[in-house]
Amino acid sequence: MSAKVIDGKAFAAKVREQVAEHVQTLTSKHGVKPGLAVVLVGEDPASQVYVRNKGKQTVEVGMNSFEHRLPADTSEETLIGLVRQLNESPDVHGILVQLPLPSHLDSDLVINTIAPEKDVDGFHISNVGLLGTGQKSMAPCTPLGCLMMLREELGSLSGLNAVVLGRSNIVGKPMAQLLLRDSCTVTIAHSRTKDIEAVSAAADIVVAAVGRPEMVKANWIKPGATVIDVGINRVDAPELGTKEDGSPKTRIVGDVAYDEVAKVAGAITPVPGGVGPMTIACLLANTLTAYCRANDLPEPTGLTA
Ligand code: GUN
Repeated sequence: MSAKVIDGKAFAAKVREQVAEHVQTLTSKHGVKPGLAVVLVGEDPASQVYVRNKGKQTVEVGMNSFEHRLPADTSEETLIGLVRQLNESPDVHGILVQLPLPSHLDSDLVINTIAPEKDVDGFHISNVGLLGTGQKSMAPCTPLGCLMMLREELGSLSGLNAVVLGRSNIVGKPMAQLLLRDSCTVTIAHSRTKDIEAVSAAADIVVAAVGRPEMVKANWIKPGATVIDVGINRVDAPELGTKEDGSPKTRIVGDVAYDEVAKVAGAITPVPGGVGPMTIACLLANTLTAYCRANDLPEPTGLTA
């Protein structure tokens, strides 16, 4: 049996379309467009690509995009001053500070300066606490995207055994909270988990977010299980030839050994083209949600946790 491939690219396009429709209706009624501010400190190439994509897609769904690019040696005081200014701005409904920040800046301090209602990443300690206690919060974009794909694929998740591989604050922990809210029986497994293969192989749902290329093998997966691969790992691919400097070309792989797992799983997300595109789509969905909450409007259905 070969797993169904969950097309995250197509699903993300559908989510963006829904967001765009809401934005058009709301903007024509209320005049003010939803606005997303993205702050990038330094010149990390991967972050620059993310930020460019975010800005482009924000404008494509009809929102205002505000980009703030600051030099790598920006002081904490300056960055916090900018965040406070964005907190006060009536045109800004969502704020995202691109991570990682240069090492001289305290990420927790900066993130916790963002007004919780504008924290579209869901990283502010208030949103983490609200999510953990089942209250209305802002869910982090990557886990939210995974949840949307799981609901689309499986319908109700109630009673299913879900294993989250990885315990990061950005993916593993909030993913577990979201699955628990949808009444899954949730296990978080990590690098110290004993017999992790067997733990994983008991699951109906496996979400892999460990940051290790192709770690999850076929024997980690129960036949028919749904596998969501959050990993984005660049590995050498000598089979593709060499670059100009003689070093091997590279390719992107997930945390799941796709070819072998796809023979066992019921459904699986590919890398690239699975979870990745959903993250920015969910960022736009969260910005729309923040706009609706700020204006006492009903929240869009199907676009929140
Ligand atoms: N860096 C990589 N992914 C993300 C994300 O989802 N949010 C933020 N703020 N930084 C990131």
